[in-house]
Amino acid sequence: MSARRSLIAGNWKMYKTSAEAADFARRFVPLVSGLADRDIMIAPPFTALETVAGILKGTNVALGAQNLFWEAEGAFTAEISPKMLAAAGCRYVIIGHSERRQFFGETNDTVNRRVRAALPVGLIPVMCVGETEQEREAGQTFSVLDKQVRKGLKNLVANELGTLVIAYEPVWAIGTGKTATKEQAQTAHQFIRSLVANLFPAGVAAAMRILYGGSVKPENISELMAMDDIDGALVGGASLNPESFAKIVCY
Ligand code: PGA
Repeated sequence: MSARRSLIAGNWKMYKTSAEAADFARRFVPLVSGLADRDIMIAPPFTALETVAGILKGTNVALGAQNLFWEAEGAFTAEISPKMLAAAGCRYVIIGHSERRQFFGETNDTVNRRVRAALPVGLIPVMCVGETEQEREAGQTFSVLDKQVRKGLKNLVANELGTLVIAYEPVWAIGTGKTATKEQAQTAHQFIRSLVANLFPAGVAAAMRILYGGSVKPENISELMAMDDIDGALVGGASLNPESFAKIVCY
């Protein structure tokens, strides 16, 4: 358990129409309304953002998006700008999820461009990092994380990092039911925090929230949250049902 304010975030991926998202939000909000000591976020698909924003307004549940493009506007067919997300009511944006890296050509360089574009409009980036199973087995976990964090945060200065969140999501644990053990997660989180401490002036790393993601469920959230460097969770599958996500949020 850390002194940092925890953040439990739901990544809905490509699930839920706008009507389904609205139904979730109406059922979920009353289940978590009493919780003032933690931050809660849900990230629906783009098409549901404005509808869900209307339902979350004035509640303790914040809205997030799952991606953004770094340009402010222009001839970039199908892309969504930081300003559009902020205007739609988003407070957070997930950046560099492993599915973006795996299927849509996201690189550490494009992750960095997105992070740098999110901050000036007041969006809180949730920058995702994590090794594949093959990389873990080859003993490359730390070198992969080192590269992802170092490059993702390139050209940022300490006072820009006040809100930024890192999500450690081992690729082999995403959607597989195979959660990292609490010790494996803690070791990776501690590594990331000490790396940030080496890259930025004192205080930044100690204040930075590092979330764990990968098969988080109501059954394993408490033991993960008990670890020193785990400050929250990024939840995929188990965030799609209001009751199960509320159980996780209420860990
Ligand atoms: P999962 O997904 O909880 O379904 O494993 C986590 C994520 O991809 O953020």
